[in-house]
Amino acid sequence: MVLAGKRILLIISGGIAAYKSLDLIRRLRERGASVRPVMTAGAQQFITPLAVGALAADHVFTDLFSREDEQDVGHIRLARDCDLVLIAPATADLLAKMANGLADDLASTIMLATDRPVLAAPAMNPKMWAHPATRRNVETLRGDGIAFVGPMTGEMAESGEAGAGRMAEPLDIVAAVERRLDNGAKPLAGKKAIVTSGPTHEPIDPVRYIANRSSGRQGHAIAAALAALGADVTLVSGPVSIPDPAGLNVIHVERAEEMRDAVLAALPADIAVMVAAVADWRVASASDQKIKKHPGESIPTLALTENPDILKTVGHHTQRPKLVIGFAAETQDVESNARAKLERKGADFIVANDVSPSTGIMGGTRNRVKIISHDGVEQWPDLDKDEVATRLAALIAGTIMQR
Ligand SMILES: Cc1cc2nc3c(=O)[nH]c(=O)nc-3n(C[C@H](O)[C@H](O)[C@H](O)COP(=O)(O)O)c2cc1C
Repeated sequence: MVLAGKRILLIISGGIAAYKSLDLIRRLRERGASVRPVMTAGAQQFITPLAVGALAADHVFTDLFSREDEQDVGHIRLARDCDLVLIAPATADLLAKMANGLADDLASTIMLATDRPVLAAPAMNPKMWAHPATRRNVETLRGDGIAFVGPMTGEMAESGEAGAGRMAEPLDIVAAVERRLDNGAKPLAGKKAIVTSGPTHEPIDPVRYIANRSSGRQGHAIAAALAALGADVTLVSGPVSIPDPAGLNVIHVERAEEMRDAVLAALPADIAVMVAAVADWRVASASDQKIKKHPGESIPTLALTENPDILKTVGHHTQRPKLVIGFAAETQDVESNARAKLERKGADFIVANDVSPSTGIMGGTRNRVKIISHDGVEQWPDLDKDEVATRLAALIAGTIMQR
């Protein structure tokens, strides 16, 4: 019910994902929000104001210099008469204008004039998203307090192009809007949480490393869900291609040892959720120089050594958080392995999932988990990773209040 009666100013800019904004309008309205649309000239190349206006059941604003619109509502009122400004899709162009304070059309002028919370759903070709200029602009905008949802990794509309740049799905955008507008109970206010996420990269030499398929989606979603319940979250992230969740303290690391150091430096905390897929082993002595291939020479052997066990270290630490949660990614005997892990690591819960390639969980957007505690096992249904995160955050809040 977070969206009931809420007024969303939806800015649609000129990307191919604009067609998804039609569904987004429908999803927002069926949850009770009103949607007032603004379209850039670019957006009108992809979808029509007629379709947008029909779905929004409102006038569509397109022109900064429209005499009627200025008299009627005016661009400054447009910018302020709403609970949230949502930009979906947000083009590289519009983000660049916003980061630099340009105001040469209605959308960019509204963005400069608004004092409302802003959520942007970027959508663009992966090369555009990865471009240093876009990276700089996104960093600037984050610093200005603008929140982001997505982009996601995957196939783009252009054939043969894949990577980070796909607009988040309408329901994920709706969930992000709800999180942004939720003034509800904050049961974790005043609690500090540490979350690890993503893989680790263990160097072989300066250019090669050992890694795994973890995308960081689940860990990042959990960090965001805990923050939405009011927790002060430190997210320690391995190398991932998804954006940092807004409003958290994010520490980027590469190796398991760096991750352990960052986690220990963040103690004391009330809650630790160790989601990262930390490499069990690293190369015993990584080479300072690139290992060269010489004809006729034997193939090098990699001697491995054990990495620190971060979950176990935290679970048995003198400053052990009240609640310690680990993840167990298994491909066989999921439950019995997770139970053994619960005891060995000193954890309160193990969230176990089957990451066999056929499940598509590792690197995917959905998850099917079992929650293993000293009280028993609870099987959760197949859920979006954001939904797993929301449920887990609620479980954490419920548990910590009883301790
Ligand atoms: C077929 C086509 C698809 C495009 N898709 C995107 C896109 O997904 N994201 C993006 O940032 N720009 C995209 N562009 C480029 C923008 O439309 C262009 O930068 C435009 O100036 C954006 O204007 P606006 O930000 O005012 O809407 C696309 C262009 C074309 C021709």
